[in-house]
Amino acid sequence: MEDHPQQVLQAAFDAHDKVTISFSGAEDVVLIDMARQLTDQVNVFCLDTGRLHQKTYEFIERVGQHYNLEIDVVTPDAASVDKLVSAKGLFSFYEDGHEECCEVRKIAPLRGHLLQWDAWITGQRRDQSPTRSEVQTIEADSAFSTDDHAVTKYNPLANWSSDQVWQYIRDNQVPYNSLHDRGYMSIGCEPCTRAIKPGEHERAGRWWWEESTKKECGLHIINVQEA
Ligand code: ADX
Ligand code: SF4
Repeated sequence: MEDHPQQVLQAAFDAHDKVTISFSGAEDVVLIDMARQLTDQVNVFCLDTGRLHQKTYEFIERVGQHYNLEIDVVTPDAASVDKLVSAKGLFSFYEDGHEECCEVRKIAPLRGHLLQWDAWITGQRRDQSPTRSEVQTIEADSAFSTDDHAVTKYNPLANWSSDQVWQYIRDNQVPYNSLHDRGYMSIGCEPCTRAIKPGEHERAGRWWWEESTKKECGLHIINVQEA
């Protein structure tokens, strides 16, 4: 039997001095809500790619106010964004895949950000994608560790279903992104996310022009790296 998500959070707080929650979606606010019940010292960051939905920016603001948190909004290196856009325009991902743009707008900023943290907490769930079926609640994050700085990754909701997440949101009046009321399920950047139809898989609206086995942007690259 796996630990309850709140026990996994407590284990992270017990094991590390510097722990941060990565926030963009519904699962992450569930974790913020649970963490808030354990400590007043909750650190949260969000990677602002510059391409998020207006509703997502409103949601980030609302979550900060609701939990009285200062969310650390992490932005990409302006010169790197300029270079990509000058070379390939604003929509290169539809032509040659999302990896390059995600690297500039999310992964490089995350790499820099995690240098200050010993552990990060994510809202990944195993049933979200074939690439997440092996996700563990606690993992050494080889992708973001360096020779002199180890980073541990906690996925307290690894074993939860979407239904459990939404039940928690309803039971605890947790704020959520209003795009969920318009058919969006998994929400990323605006040009790379669309609403899904009834019966479609929850991540079908993410990078919909690519195969499901390639739908990791690099934040969770250890899911698809060879052991
Ligand atoms: S993604 O890699 O495909 O974009 P997804 O949207 O499923 O990831 O989110 C999985 C987890 O990754 C979230 O629960 C959150 O912890 C983290 N995450 C995703 N996008 C961001 C972001 N923009 N900022 C911070 N954390 C994020
Ligand atoms: Fe760029 Fe799309 Fe990745 Fe956002 S999700 S960083 S817009 S490729």
